[in-house]
Amino acid sequence: MPSRRNQHLLSPIKLLLPLLLLHPSAHAQNTTKRGIAYAGNPHRPDNNLLQSPSSPLSWYYNWSPYPNTNLLSPSSLEFVPLIHGLDGAQDPQTRRQINSLPESSKHLLSFNEPDGTTDSGGSSIEPEDAARAYIEHIVPYRSGRARKWLISHPSTTGSPRGLDWLRRFNESCYEIDAEHGCPTDFIAAHWYGAFDGLVSWLRALEEFYNGDREVEEGRLRIWVTELALPQADVEATVEMMNASLRYLDESESVERYAWFGGFRTDDANEWTGDAVALFDGDGGLTRLGALYLGGEGNGFTEGQKGEGGARALALNMCLMVLCLGISVIMSGS
Ligand SMILES: *[C@@H]1O[C@H](CO)[C@@H](O)[C@H](O)[C@H]1NC(C)=O
Ligand SMILES: *[C@@H]1O[C@H](CO)[C@@H](O)[C@H](O)[C@H]1NC(C)=O
Ligand SMILES: *[C@@H]1O[C@H](CO)[C@@H](O)[C@H](O)[C@H]1NC(C)=O
Repeated sequence: MPSRRNQHLLSPIKLLLPLLLLHPSAHAQNTTKRGIAYAGNPHRPDNNLLQSPSSPLSWYYNWSPYPNTNLLSPSSLEFVPLIHGLDGAQDPQTRRQINSLPESSKHLLSFNEPDGTTDSGGSSIEPEDAARAYIEHIVPYRSGRARKWLISHPSTTGSPRGLDWLRRFNESCYEIDAEHGCPTDFIAAHWYGAFDGLVSWLRALEEFYNGDREVEEGRLRIWVTELALPQADVEATVEMMNASLRYLDESESVERYAWFGGFRTDDANEWTGDAVALFDGDGGLTRLGALYLGGEGNGFTEGQKGEGGARALALNMCLMVLCLGISVIMSGS
């Protein structure tokens, strides 16, 4: 539900960083399912931890077609573009941007919570309008001559309202194109709630999309693109994540998943509460963060911080001294 926080946050630090900071050493593309719903964490050390060689994360998305290239390297994490709503779908710049992404990007997510209101991060689109825009603007990515994308249906809220929206969307799709409807390569799902509810929601989607279809008959697989237990304490949240990770990693129905989200406790929103954050206020991993990165098995412990903070600070100091020096010289001349 919550999304697009701090996405376009620009700070002087962010502008200066590309000057100096070396990329963390690139690791081989990891084919695990785990990724991150990236709400624009601007802290370089946190990002370096998320994409460090021992991190199990393999992908990220940020609810937009624009990657966070200055903080996350495409050789470490695959970027998955998303077209949030109708405006983005219609904008010709969106197509140019998406088709200019590195070849490592192969999947495209479509409309974000069209059954939800815009003030909670949704795109608030009537199923009929979404079907028309999907066929006109999203499906062409799938059959593109220059570049073919694997596309997803819109991701609704994890609720009966969401399922009802998808049903009406599908009906509209077939009214517009009686033969093909709205073709899709995978399903995107959101879940905020307890572990049991996650399992039921994925079963409901599985049933809706696949019925008892076998894999060979083109069964669609699910990406859980937003996942969290909102407004719970740390203990309950860790427990929910622990159960979910095991389930999602083992489930054949699930192709990928992403926790909400990769930010610090201070940047969590009111609706989710602080316990969903992977980093504490100082950039140390929370218990949850350490668990999501694979825990001690991968060398991650609670409180651990990423590298790059001191270096960034040093750079800023250097630049400040430099600017000061220049202004002294200028004023003296
Ligand atoms: C991906 O990373 C996980 C955790 O570090 C590791 O267990 C797994 O073997 C890696 N997979 C590949 C294909 O490198
Ligand atoms: C979508 O509608 C078509 C046509 O009515 C139907 O055959 C198909 O089963 C529906 N698909 C889903 C996922 O409900
Ligand atoms: C996750 O669950 C397993 C199995 O119940 C348990 O052994 C492990 O300690 C749990 N991990 C965390 C971090 O709670």
